[in-house]
Amino acid sequence: MDSQNITSVSQEKRTFSPSAAFKRQANLQTLSKYQRLYSESINTPDKFWAKQANEQLVWRKPFRQVLQWKPPHAKWFVGGKLNVSENCLDHHLGTARENKAALIFEGEPGDVRTITYRQLHFHVCRMAHFMENLGIKAGDRVAIYMPMIPEAVIAMLACARVGAVHTVIFGGFSAEAIKDRINDCHAKLVITADGGWRRGKIIELKANVDKAIAGAPCVHSVMVVKRCGNPVTMVEGRDVWWKEAWEGAPNCHDAKAFDSEHPLFILYTSGSTGKPKGVLHTSAGYLLGAKLSSHYVFDLKENDRYFCSADIGWITGHSYVVYGLLSNGSTVFLYEGAPNHPEPDRFWQMIDRHGLTILYTAPTAIRAFMRWGDNYVLRHRLDSLRLLGSVGEPINPEAWMWYHKMIGKKKCPIVDTWWQTETGSIMVTPLPGFTPTKPGSATLPFFGVKPMVVDSDGNEVPRNSGGKFVITQPWPSMLRTLWGDDERYKKAYYSEFARHPHYYFTGDGARQDKDGYFWIIGRIDDVLNVSGHRIGTVEVESALVSHPAVAEAAAVGRPDELKGQSLVVFVTLKSTAVASEELKEALRAHVGKEIGSLAKPDQVRFAASLPKTRSGKIMRRLLKELATNGEVKGDTTTLDDLSVIATLQTEE
Ligand code: PRX
Repeated sequence: MDSQNITSVSQEKRTFSPSAAFKRQANLQTLSKYQRLYSESINTPDKFWAKQANEQLVWRKPFRQVLQWKPPHAKWFVGGKLNVSENCLDHHLGTARENKAALIFEGEPGDVRTITYRQLHFHVCRMAHFMENLGIKAGDRVAIYMPMIPEAVIAMLACARVGAVHTVIFGGFSAEAIKDRINDCHAKLVITADGGWRRGKIIELKANVDKAIAGAPCVHSVMVVKRCGNPVTMVEGRDVWWKEAWEGAPNCHDAKAFDSEHPLFILYTSGSTGKPKGVLHTSAGYLLGAKLSSHYVFDLKENDRYFCSADIGWITGHSYVVYGLLSNGSTVFLYEGAPNHPEPDRFWQMIDRHGLTILYTAPTAIRAFMRWGDNYVLRHRLDSLRLLGSVGEPINPEAWMWYHKMIGKKKCPIVDTWWQTETGSIMVTPLPGFTPTKPGSATLPFFGVKPMVVDSDGNEVPRNSGGKFVITQPWPSMLRTLWGDDERYKKAYYSEFARHPHYYFTGDGARQDKDGYFWIIGRIDDVLNVSGHRIGTVEVESALVSHPAVAEAAAVGRPDELKGQSLVVFVTLKSTAVASEELKEALRAHVGKEIGSLAKPDQVRFAASLPKTRSGKIMRRLLKELATNGEVKGDTTTLDDLSVIATLQTEE
């Protein structure tokens, strides 16, 4: 098992418990209460989830059955009807929250906007009307390709309001990647902006959308927010400015009720094979998972000001910027730009300026802050912070300790949360009021989550042994299928263990220690985690072989101090191509164009040939070893031609 994803030079054996002051005010204060609720959630899930669903969600029509489970397909809260946007907005109107800030936005240039729940409702209603007038109906797909601005949240909620299924595409993806996603789900409408600010430069979003739509005839309308004022081409009859759409629409909108299992969104994510997978989440179960976990994991209080640095293009942005937080009536801080613009203390400055109380970010960001130096932190008070969170990759003990001391001033609990695009909400996590934390461990399962570390047959392995990380019971916010490809859904998640067809395989390796704490080791499939972003090796390889110079390609991950993993590609060239530094650069740029700059290889290595098994499969394991250690010591018995490795070791 690969334990090298955790780039750690030190071992931290101490455990850290919340202060008495934190514990006293926490939403859940004792281990015994957690244990009682947890056992109930696992042993009598119907009872537990019925109670939670009735307490947490606003229903238009009550559900008649909690769970219908025909592995691997689940239906939650069968027969119930609700509207997700109503749960996030209307529910707070007429209460003390009506004039509370729902969003506090800071743009990269420094512009600030505060939007109350009442105002957010007003914006969403107008957009919902406009979308309906465009002919968008329940079930239609809408692509959102936007910077981190309030309109992105409004667009998502307007989709939810009219029952349209949104697919948010991260602003760092290229036109090609947008086109593939739009075509895969047949989006009719794309919502975008002229541009977004990133390190003082404009990312030209509308121009990328135009290129994408040239190959996506399913799109008939494009809505464009004016954000940066950069010139854009507006296509008559297809493109409309957001402001114009907004001005013409009425303020009130009666939200229709949708079935519990009505699709809410599709989010594309990388898998170990082929094109990105369209993970489908539905309405009630997803919302309940996001809402309940936000309440407990972030210990939300009425006057919190919560900052999650994830982009809404990722699942973290969906669940823990938008749905989980707004359904709880919290104040969410949104930041548009880069963490080091204009200086590497931008986050700390914003935390002081807005009195932010909770910060949820990724280890890769924490490591970058560490590298930029303590002085950038020490200029700021950070005394409003009371809770810190980590997500996206294993956090190494050094980064954990730095986060704890420098940012949390030793008084803020850290919640290291393990989950995935597919799980919809946090699955393994400390609960900050009582869980003693061990740096590097996501600790214990959340309510309703039954994880297990198993061997290749699906049998639980002894404590402290590494194994495959599985979830053995369904949970409300689980993915329902992959858009348009249910066979792939079954194969990717529910086919790993023939004798346990109801075990969900996460793709991760893990171990469980003697206290029952889970330690996630990282991906054990062909998926890399570069700076907390999931990248499929196969996607990168397909991008490379689409370049005219490339014959074959293999992509592997190498441990990286800053990014967790960095991306190394081995490439064999066609006989007509000549190896050169320029070609390496051209190949990096080509991957950037095909997928997006987040997938650009850190290193391109030319090779005369790639190591293969006798049946012709590329042995990535050996390439990974070579990229990491500069040599291969592992088992080469299945290798077809040993000399390939010797040659590769001398090539660079
Ligand atoms: O390998 C695990 C890692 O990120 C993967 C999921 O990636 P994605 O679907 O993009 O979602 C990221 C945000 C939820 C997992 O399979 N991962 C996520 N959180 C952690 C983690 N690895 C270790 N510790 C975590 N806290």
